[in-house]
Parts: sequence; structure tokens; C-alpha cells
Amino acid sequence: MLEVIRNRFSCRSFEPASVSDDALRQILEAAFCAPSANNARPWEIIVVRDAATRERLSQAHQWAGMCADAPVVLAMCGDAEKSPDWWIDDVAAATQNVLLAAESLGLGTCWVGIHAGGGRPETVAREALGIPEHVRVLALIALGSCGVPRPPRPERYEEAAVHWDRW
Ligand SMILES: Cc1cc2nc3c(=O)[nH]c(=O)nc-3n(C[C@H](O)[C@H](O)[C@H](O)COP(=O)(O)O)c2cc1C
Repeated sequence: MLEVIRNRFSCRSFEPASVSDDALRQILEAAFCAPSANNARPWEIIVVRDAATRERLSQAHQWAGMCADAPVVLAMCGDAEKSPDWWIDDVAAATQNVLLAAESLGLGTCWVGIHAGGGRPETVAREALGIPEHVRVLALIALGSCGVPRPPRPERYEEAAVHWDRW
């Protein structure tokens, strides 16, 4: 697990090969294993394989272009009625599980932020995917076989950002 955590990186260019149903199922199961506040489990995940829909999602903002390229995009959503105060935290936890599960299966991912950005990115995703009012979109995850070599992973531990017992 620690090796998977260290090796994960944001992949922004993908091979056209599709993701197998088995891999996709394992990745989705990982998402639903995340912790959630009050065990509300507000997750809703839209699996997008349709090229035209991925193209629309790639227009959500200027850093979402890889959604057109990746064979699968997962829209990571949360039911804000089920968890009004914590849906962001809950969906973020599920999103990280997806990134790590994909890495462990040798697949690349990129987290594409959607819920911030003044509302337009979420509106684009909402309209492209037909998402109901009570459901919010936290992020898109571009998923597939990564088309670029694995970058070197320098040490990321930051001693100065760790505070022992108090600030
Ligand atoms: C909340 C969040 C939003 C992000 N949004 C984007 C995005 O829209 N486009 C993108 O290319 N990368 C996005 N990323 C990926 C970050 O750019 C990336 O994690 C960071 O540069 C560190 O690189 P690494 O993931 O390879 O370790 C996002 C990451 C997070 C956590």
C-alpha cells in the first residue's frame, strides 16, 4: 500500500485501450469502501465511456482536457441531501480510494476538480450528465492506461509542515 501511495501520479495522457470491466468493478468497490461522516455513504458515481460525453466534460475548464482522451471518466458525486455538511469530505475520500486502487491495478488517473471554480465547471458536468438538483459533483477522474512514462517521484516529506504536539 505504501508503495502504491508513493508511486501514484497525475496522468494527463492516455492510451486508447479501454479499462476492463473487472478492473472497473474493483476500482468502484474501492470507492465505496471509503469512510464517510455518520456513515452516510452519500456517494454517487457516473461511469462515462461515451466519447461525446467525455468531450463535453473536457470543456468543464481549461485543465480538464484529458477527459476527452481517457477511455473512462468517473464523475465523483455526492448526495447533498443525505450529507449536507460532509458530502465534500466523503466524496474526496472515495476519490482518493479510486486513485490508489487504479494505481495498484497499473492504471493511470487524474483528479479533475469540479465543485469549485465559480459554478461553471459543475454546471457543465451537471448538464452533460443529467445530474439531479440534490446531487453535487466534486470531481471527475480521468482513468485508463497511462500514455506517458512514470515520472520520478522525489521525496515529498516536509518536516517543516509537521507539528508535534502543538504548532
Ligand atoms: C482537488 C484537486 C483538483 C485537481 N484538479 C486538477 C485539474 O483540474 N486538472 C489537472 O490536470 N490536475 C488536477 N489535479 C491534480 C493536481 O494537479 C496534482 O495532484 C498535483 O499537481 C500533484 O501531482 P501528482 O498528482 O502527480 O502528485 C487536482 C488535484 C486535486 C487534489
